Amino acid sequence: MTGQPPPRRPAPTSPLPSFHLDAEGRGVPVPVGLAPRPTGSGEILELEPDPEDQTQVASRKHLEYTRRSTVALCVAGSIAAYKAAEVARGLLEAGVRVIPVMTQAAEEFLGPSTLSGLTGEPVRKTMWDPNFPGEMHVAIARQADAVLIAPATADLISRLAHGRADDLVTALALVSEKPLLIAPAMHPSMWAHPATRRNVAALDADARTEWLGPVDGPVASGDSGLGRMMSPAQIVEATLFRLTSKDLAGLKLVITAGPTAEDLDPVRYLTNRSSGKMGFALARRAAARGATVTLIAGPSGLPTPHRVKRVDVRSAIAMRGAVWQALGPDLSMADALIMSAAVSDFRPAETHASKQKKKKGESAVHLELTLNPDILAEIGHSRQGPRPMLVGFAVETDSDEKILGYAQGKLADKRVDVVVANRASDSFGRGDNRAMLVSSAGVEALGVLPKETLADRILDRMRLNLLGK
Ligand code: C5P
Repeated sequence: MTGQPPPRRPAPTSPLPSFHLDAEGRGVPVPVGLAPRPTGSGEILELEPDPEDQTQVASRKHLEYTRRSTVALCVAGSIAAYKAAEVARGLLEAGVRVIPVMTQAAEEFLGPSTLSGLTGEPVRKTMWDPNFPGEMHVAIARQADAVLIAPATADLISRLAHGRADDLVTALALVSEKPLLIAPAMHPSMWAHPATRRNVAALDADARTEWLGPVDGPVASGDSGLGRMMSPAQIVEATLFRLTSKDLAGLKLVITAGPTAEDLDPVRYLTNRSSGKMGFALARRAAARGATVTLIAGPSGLPTPHRVKRVDVRSAIAMRGAVWQALGPDLSMADALIMSAAVSDFRPAETHASKQKKKKGESAVHLELTLNPDILAEIGHSRQGPRPMLVGFAVETDSDEKILGYAQGKLADKRVDVVVANRASDSFGRGDNRAMLVSSAGVEALGVLPKETLADRILDRMRLNLLGK
């Protein structure tokens, strides 16, 4: 022992170099993804994203709550392998670094260039790469915050269940101490087979294992049943859920979303342009951050966020009933209510049981409307202490100054803690929003943010109010 660190090992040549264009338009190779770095001991070279890699720079639009996580995305030999490209894309869009790994059979179904092109990382397929300094499975396991296998075949599940380490994916799964997320894809008969059931049970005994599907539906052969891979969007959501730090654990939230529909007759109704995206984003982020979430949704085709209890309603009156039920008569069943739904202010005075006919010679009809209850104001006026915290929304069409004035008015009139003020044209139907948080403490202008990020900002404020941090 000399006390000197061992000499740096030479940088490996990347098996899959990528290129960018220089000022003259010539292709110049850039090192991709796995740049070597000595560890503290200098013994084993670790993998690290290359800060100059443009693919990675473009994908750094990350959700800060996943803390720039890294996922080893392992692809096995199934027809569903092509969907792994969408999984990679979804994770990258959320700012996650993706290290692609493929089994030998996966190459029969998906070209590695697809994954290397998307992720900006060389696809790792074997433990036997003489150019790679160190042990590939150990190096990837050290970098990955989760190992995601999508799709996972019956054969791979069997090998995992038996603790085999006969290829890079199984060796990686065996050495990793992080969550192992498995998205199976196979014929329903294979999934139902007693051998697969035994293998699933064996893997279930390990707390790190989480099954993402399979789901019921058509499979490649044309048959249908439980064996279809979960959709890439759901796999991405479940993976982000697992990676997100749970800073809202222990909090119970009720969130409303979407428009309401006020029926005139069985065919016609009054509604508004709310898409529900903001409320669904709030529910998704709150659940991912560990809160227990009840989402009360007006008519919306949006998918239910992972681990969220959804209550579908149609009218303002039905939403009011669902909100009171979720909060309890003494409002003690939730820590916060976030009313992001665009509740119809009015409903037809009468709802007809059959379709209203046009009358001969009639050139105009007068529709009588009646005022709906203001759910938020009702809760605000019933609340005795600071709980539940109340967050309202104010969507207006006027100038920022007027919007602020309306928001401050709502703060007092409805007795709420925070009003999220925004313009209809900046918000309705869009993926982003320009909002201000208005409270008795002042106004915080948040600028234009994706709705998921705005959701995190609103939840940060809520956490500060409820937990003091
Ligand atoms: O008064 P205004 O409709 O602009 O207030 C918007 C806020 O009040 C939103 O948070 C909305 O969900 C809530 N609201 C309600 N019940 C109504 C109308 C609005 O809870 N009938």
